[in-house]
Amino acid sequence: MSEKLATLSFSDGKPSVDFPVFSGSVGPDVIDVRALYAKTGMFTYDPGFMSTASCRSSITYIDGDEGILQYRGYPIEQLAESCDFLEVAYLILNGELPNPQQKTAFDDIVTKHSMVHEQLSRFYSGFRRDAHPMAVLCGVVGALSAFYHDSINIHDERSREISAFRLIAKLPTITAMTYKYNMGQPFMYPKNKLSYTDNFLYMMFGTPCEEYVPNPVISRAIDRILILHADHEQNASTSTVRLAGSTGANPFACISAGIASLWGPAHGGANEAVLKMLDEIGDVKNIPAFIKRVKDKDGHAMLMGFGHRVYKNYDPRAKIIQRTCHEVLEELDMKDNKLIKLAMALEKIALEDDYFIKRKLYPNVDFYSGIVYKALGIPVSMFTAIFALARTVGWIAQWKELIADTDQKIGRPRQLFTGATRRDLVPMAKRK
Ligand code: SDX
Repeated sequence: MSEKLATLSFSDGKPSVDFPVFSGSVGPDVIDVRALYAKTGMFTYDPGFMSTASCRSSITYIDGDEGILQYRGYPIEQLAESCDFLEVAYLILNGELPNPQQKTAFDDIVTKHSMVHEQLSRFYSGFRRDAHPMAVLCGVVGALSAFYHDSINIHDERSREISAFRLIAKLPTITAMTYKYNMGQPFMYPKNKLSYTDNFLYMMFGTPCEEYVPNPVISRAIDRILILHADHEQNASTSTVRLAGSTGANPFACISAGIASLWGPAHGGANEAVLKMLDEIGDVKNIPAFIKRVKDKDGHAMLMGFGHRVYKNYDPRAKIIQRTCHEVLEELDMKDNKLIKLAMALEKIALEDDYFIKRKLYPNVDFYSGIVYKALGIPVSMFTAIFALARTVGWIAQWKELIADTDQKIGRPRQLFTGATRRDLVPMAKRK
């Protein structure tokens, strides 16, 4: 029972009403307005959820003013430095870091689920070769529920767990198959002796014709990028997964909904949009004119990879990716890469500009990740698909949390109706 109360008073003399205030372990308190309609006949109005907590969660914490991101309490910097992706996936799913035995068992189960039903591969041939990878991912991941009937009973804990393993294990395979189909190359079956990330890179870049030799610097870079993208509390795609999940839809369908939501350029699609923007700017000398267009708000130009609903400070992930980006370019002997120089010049100019300072617009996770992918020869259209691969861990953990939450109800926002009020139908012949 909450001891703190918030009192809502009205200027028209209606009696004031009290609401309980809840405190989390850290972060802003929340006012429990669930009884607002019953007590006042009013709704709250909050498009974009600017001030609304949609759930309780104990997975990820962000302090946007300080630029802090923690998974299950651990700072992202420590996780990115010291863990591999599956270790972080275990943490996000289970709440604690694994001990060596737990890690081995988890790696093993994920590895053993990495192959997809052979018939699933036929889905790809229904798509055009030039289909956007995110379109293919939405379809193929949604279709998983047609293949794995034995793990879609959402009320059975073991079933939920198996779906989680399946999704985390199969997303690299499905994502790589999407790329291979695009390229017109044969699908590569997963190799159990490889790590999660090496296996993904092998399925992307290996061919049956020659031995694929993983490059440890590149594997580490991609693994780190996956860690940085693994979860981010109630962002748009995660909220989509939760909303779909609140109806009792199966986890594969929910994750497919999340993929669709991630695709937008204001969200995960921004990594692709950053590269397009850098291409469009073309040269450092064109930056001032581009910044001017952004500030003029001509309706089209945005500084993609900048700004965030929660971070009003540097996105801590962007800092880590920037470092990783330099490591990769060094390894690939691409230090003088034009794109990185352009991105850094653009960042510097924007960070010193009053427009961006006033609005607290800083680089976000998507600003540098695309440059790493591009340096590795990954086509721009695949960038958001790799984001989806990593975020699957967060989505499935958040979905599991939702299902286990006794406060959870079907998501059903209300509205401020501004349309026509009741009127009588005029027969067609009499309409002007
Ligand atoms: C992700 O939420 C998450 O956690 C998402 C994410 C995750 O891990 O899940 O972190 C991943 O989605 C990162 C964000 C990727 N998107 C982009 O890089 C696209 C560019 N950014 C913007 O579209 C925007 O900043 C958002 C969508 C990210 C945030 O939007 P908000 O919080 O609704 O802010 P806003 O659009 O109302 O902007 C406030 C002001 C406006 O100016 P004014 O009307 O006050 O004059 O800032 C301006 C905006 O026009 N603005 C920008 C800008 N971002 C905001 N102006 C130029 N360039 C930009 N990038």
